[in-house]
Amino acid sequence: MKAWRVHELGSPADVLAFEDIDVPTAGEGQVLVKVAAAALNFPDLLMIAGKYQVRPPLPFVPGFELTGEVVATGQRVIGGPAAGFGAYAEYAVLDADAAWPVPDGMPVEHAAALFLTYQTGHFGLHRRARLQAGEVVLVHAGAGGVGSAAIQLAKAAGATVIATAGGPEKVAVCLQLGADHAIDYLAEDFVGRVKEITGGAGADVIYDPVGGDVFDSSRKCVAFEGRIVVVGFTSGRMAEAPTNHALVKNYSVLGLHWGLYRTHDPSLIAEVHEDLTRLYAEGAIKPLVSQTLPLAEAPQALAALGRRETVGKVVLRP
Ligand SMILES: NC(=O)c1ccc[n+]([C@@H]2O[C@H](COP(=O)([O-])OP(=O)(O)OC[C@H]3O[C@@H](n4cnc5c(N)ncnc54)[C@H](OP(=O)(O)O)[C@@H]3O)[C@@H](O)[C@H]2O)c1
Repeated sequence: MKAWRVHELGSPADVLAFEDIDVPTAGEGQVLVKVAAAALNFPDLLMIAGKYQVRPPLPFVPGFELTGEVVATGQRVIGGPAAGFGAYAEYAVLDADAAWPVPDGMPVEHAAALFLTYQTGHFGLHRRARLQAGEVVLVHAGAGGVGSAAIQLAKAAGATVIATAGGPEKVAVCLQLGADHAIDYLAEDFVGRVKEITGGAGADVIYDPVGGDVFDSSRKCVAFEGRIVVVGFTSGRMAEAPTNHALVKNYSVLGLHWGLYRTHDPSLIAEVHEDLTRLYAEGAIKPLVSQTLPLAEAPQALAALGRRETVGKVVLRP
């Protein structure tokens, strides 16, 4: 089969090789899946560069999420490869009890994009931040993969959503996704705007995949008993959270590592998958798939993601 492999760590355009390798073998309790589509994620870049929390032995096939057909049964499934990576290939092995059914009628592109970012958004907003209807949610990098899912999920939960994004086009994307307000945080100070929009109260939940200066500023516009969810560090800097500030303003900083739920309590992932498919069927969420490209174009697509040029999700099809 054709697969992208990483033989040395670096940037995708430099180190990815499109190779003919053996189809992987499903072990006990696993299924072989013919990949119909795999979606890009920022952590792909981190893993390929050797900067992710997991550093697989070389060579490895990257790619965290996919949809496809179980070879033995023809059932359409959504999920992540059993190893945690390996989606950028024609076939992948999934744990049978972590291969979630694709609802009838769901297009391949949507199925490919309904896993990692939506699961992360659901766990972040509901399980970690305990979002209540009527609260104000501030979603940073709202036009990105993780951010676009969070905007839709927060709206579906009855929240007022303020999104930030870099540049007017991305601001427009956030509004199309359903955000009530969108701020170009490269052009203006989002702290002042959030205070203005909330009548000085600040945001109850702040969903932050960017970190660095964006986290630092978020502390200035978090509401009384607010919750800042630490989702990622696309800015490249992990901010420090001063505990005295959390004390005097009565807010919480919540870490979110969705992948840990796969081992900690997989039944929660099943529940969230069910809720996501319900929300999809009701039309409350719909993945923004901005590009569908051939698998062969993975390096260029990943490079564009790293340059901050993509919006929503980019999907690769073998
Ligand atoms: N905690 C978890 O369990 C979990 C799960 C999945 C993903 N994540 C994390 O969530 C983050 C977002 O992932 P994603 O797949 O949504 O990525 P994405 O689609 O590329 O979106 C990330 C966005 O971050 C913004 N950004 C700000 N500074 C940036 C910089 N220096 N370089 C690149 N982008 C920058 C960009 O939006 P603007 O141009 O609008 O600023 C970009 O669109 C990543 O840090 C990822 O590791 C965490």
